[in-house]
Amino acid sequence: MLTNYLSLLVLLGCSFDVVRAAVTVYGQQPLGMTLTSDSGPMPTKAAYNRTVLIPPPPPQPPSTAFGISLQPTADRVTGLSVRQSGTFYGFSIEMSVVNQVLGKNSSFIQVPFLNLMGQLQHRAGAVHIRCGGNTQEFATYIEHLDHDAAIAKERANLQNPTQTPAVLYTMDLFYIFSNISSLVNVKWFLGIPFNDTQNWRLQIAEYGQRILGDNLLGLQAGNEPDLYASHNHRPATYGPFDYFGEFGDLVQTMANNPNIPVKNNLIGPSIATGDWIPEQVWDTNYIEAYKDYLSILTVEHYPNNNCFAQFGGSGSLKIPQEEFVKYLNHTAGVDLVRPYLNSTRIAQDYGKPFMMFETNTASCGGFPGISDTFGATLWALDYGYQMAQSNFTGALLHVGGQNVFYNPFTAPPTNQSAFHQWTLGSVFYSVLVMTETFGKTNQSQILDLNANNGNIHTPGYVIYDEGRLSKVALFNYITDPSGASNYTATISVGGGETGSPNSTPAQVKVKYLTSDSVATKDTIKWANQTFGGDFEVNGHLKGDLNIVTIDCNQQENTCQIPVPAPGFALVFFGEPYQDTSDITFSSTAFTKLMNTATVDPAVLATSNGMSAKEREKIGSTSFGSMDSGATRSYGFVSASLVAAAGLFSALLLWT
Ligand SMILES: *[C@@H]1O[C@H](CO)[C@@H](O)[C@H](O)[C@H]1NC(C)=O
Ligand SMILES: *[C@@H]1O[C@H](CO)[C@@H](O)[C@H](O)[C@H]1NC(C)=O
Ligand SMILES: *[C@@H]1O[C@H](CO)[C@@H](O)[C@H](O)[C@H]1NC(C)=O
Ligand SMILES: *[C@@H]1O[C@H](CO)[C@@H](O)[C@H](O)[C@H]1NC(C)=O
Ligand SMILES: *[C@@H]1O[C@H](CO)[C@@H](O)[C@H](O)[C@H]1NC(C)=O
Ligand SMILES: *[C@@H]1O[C@H](CO)[C@@H](O)[C@H](O)[C@H]1NC(C)=O
Ligand SMILES: *[C@@H]1O[C@H](CO)[C@@H](O)[C@H](O)[C@H]1NC(C)=O
Ligand SMILES: *[C@@H]1O[C@H](CO)[C@@H](O)[C@H](O)[C@H]1NC(C)=O
Ligand SMILES: *[C@@H]1O[C@H](CO)[C@@H](O)[C@H](O)[C@H]1NC(C)=O
Ligand SMILES: *[C@@H]1O[C@H](CO)[C@@H](O)[C@H](O)[C@H]1NC(C)=O
Ligand SMILES: *[C@@H]1O[C@H](CO)[C@@H](O)[C@H](O)[C@H]1NC(C)=O
Repeated sequence: MLTNYLSLLVLLGCSFDVVRAAVTVYGQQPLGMTLTSDSGPMPTKAAYNRTVLIPPPPPQPPSTAFGISLQPTADRVTGLSVRQSGTFYGFSIEMSVVNQVLGKNSSFIQVPFLNLMGQLQHRAGAVHIRCGGNTQEFATYIEHLDHDAAIAKERANLQNPTQTPAVLYTMDLFYIFSNISSLVNVKWFLGIPFNDTQNWRLQIAEYGQRILGDNLLGLQAGNEPDLYASHNHRPATYGPFDYFGEFGDLVQTMANNPNIPVKNNLIGPSIATGDWIPEQVWDTNYIEAYKDYLSILTVEHYPNNNCFAQFGGSGSLKIPQEEFVKYLNHTAGVDLVRPYLNSTRIAQDYGKPFMMFETNTASCGGFPGISDTFGATLWALDYGYQMAQSNFTGALLHVGGQNVFYNPFTAPPTNQSAFHQWTLGSVFYSVLVMTETFGKTNQSQILDLNANNGNIHTPGYVIYDEGRLSKVALFNYITDPSGASNYTATISVGGGETGSPNSTPAQVKVKYLTSDSVATKDTIKWANQTFGGDFEVNGHLKGDLNIVTIDCNQQENTCQIPVPAPGFALVFFGEPYQDTSDITFSSTAFTKLMNTATVDPAVLATSNGMSAKEREKIGSTSFGSMDSGATRSYGFVSASLVAAAGLFSALLLWT
């Protein structure tokens, strides 16, 4: 019995040490449940799919050395982007899955989620999350739902393209958002349902503004309106001028609604760039007409789709192995961004931010063997940098349910949350690196270096921060275990030109993002640290941080940076972000939470393998003790071991 108990704790991963070191959470009685007989098989849903594809062969001959010549200050560089923030990459969470990802209700928030967002906040200052997607369009406010749930799904709506069911939500949804924002600095985008523009349902705007205040960044007005006609949500004749008109109706309706005090934070047009191009919307005079109400101009786009495999219908089956190569070079991001270059210019002319409001590897769930691999990590990072250098001001990676392959993070299935931790998607690492690339100053500018004569397998970017050379980002998309495709980039700063003396530093620091292959997902490491494999993620990085110091040759004006194949290097001319364990939040709510949280050992003991209904009967009255000796119950900790496990880690990291 004791063995079973220990294996339960071991399954909680690194929490075990934490539990042992800092918190006493259990009585002396052995547990009555066994893991092996009750835990059942690992879930087989898409988010945990194990497909491994074959990486493309290395190009021949390999290109293993090239130079990069840089200016020490931004004023000597033409074509740098607008000023960017570490919050550039955020998330778009499908409304129908918020209860899986964020928490069941406002007093039951997923701690692994908080920890993951905390990681990003520490690096970027904040995290931007949109709650919406296809399901926002039919979302309907309701006073009360069974079991005090914050959200519930109606039966599937067959007219809905991705077959996501209509969502019912209560006031508690807003408290989930605001409670999260009181713990980690998450700012929210919400969306106004647009399925019925004769009978507006504006509770999202009313309650969102009232409850979230400044934590509400904006309200999306229409989701992918260019697909309304083809998805049978509007007549076949529906065009950009119809959307223009509906947007105007919304502006008018909001103007007359005293419960929506902020009138100027609308977001649009969020076209999928499927049936329309942005210029068709700009040509309706949209920006000029609504510039006093629009706070952000947006588009949405996925480079590919896996709809046939998921839903059948017209189109054709795509073979993941054949699609894989499309994600594994620099052309992917460049091609994705090109259709928007005119629009980012126009947005600048109007002084408006321009965001990619929803994107990921492929719509209809992504691809097995692609969407969750290191290849996707490199793809999303390069794509993000490419958007940033092209004057997008942000982008949101979509989070679907457990039936999609591309999630940046996935909670375990509800009935397995007792013994499984979270699963990270490989694109989460792209977001993590992005936060460190742009940091907290809001003054980063980036430029594609067209490195190695524009070789599509070895792109690079330079980043200036507050006008000074800050970082270089170097990609190697090639998988080549022989090592023959490793390359060395030789960086020179200044020198040669009049007025730009040799300013190569004595040394630089490098963080590497690595994996065995672009096809794998289990070996991804950032500066030698990992969040862990499937069902192992509690939101903390594991392993010893390894920042490599490279000595430069100041006589010759060179810094030689090796980049493995595959791999990515972020070269810091200043001090890199360093994880510290004495992180604190200013939030008093969180402090209070930490000091008072206790966990019921009965919950730890018995939640394994039980049905949700059975689990509901188990109280959350707490006993056990913390090292402080305080023993008080707190509503936050309830019958979820995953929350409990994460909380222990949070206690360690955040106290
Ligand atoms: C969890 O639920 C799924 C689907 O309802 C079921 O197949 C699986 O066996 C359940 N697992 C456990 C451990 O109860
Ligand atoms: C992964 O997903 C594909 C497509 O749904 C499926 O055919 C395959 O069996 C899954 N493989 C694994 C190992 O889960
Ligand atoms: C819009 O969605 C709501 C909620 O699902 C539904 O009650 C309403 O009938 C829909 N209206 C239209 C015009 O489709
Ligand atoms: C929140 O959800 C938890 C877990 O399902 C439940 O135990 C608790 O009663 C709920 N709290 C409220 C206020 O609804
Ligand atoms: C969380 O939400 C509840 C409403 O359910 C509210 O009473 C409570 O004050 C909130 N806690 C924090 C820390 O915001
Ligand atoms: C940019 O967009 C504007 C507005 O739609 C259009 O008039 C102009 O022709 C476009 N320019 C290019 C180069 O596409
Ligand atoms: C590079 O990526 C593009 C765009 O996704 C793809 O079409 C092309 O086949 C790839 N080229 C090589 C050589 O891998
Ligand atoms: C981004 O904006 C800057 C500043 O306006 C401009 O110099 C640069 O050319 C733009 N980049 C692209 C790719 O449009
Ligand atoms: C960066 O921008 C955010 C959002 O506008 C702001 O809250 C933050 O204070 C800014 N940081 C700095 C250093 O100015
Ligand atoms: C290529 O890089 C990898 C990872 O850094 C390293 O282990 C290997 O020794 C290198 N191979 C060659 C031939 O340089
Ligand atoms: C990487 O982390 C592991 C622990 O996970 C440690 O044993 C190893 O020494 C670290 N490597 C470097 C180079 O720091």
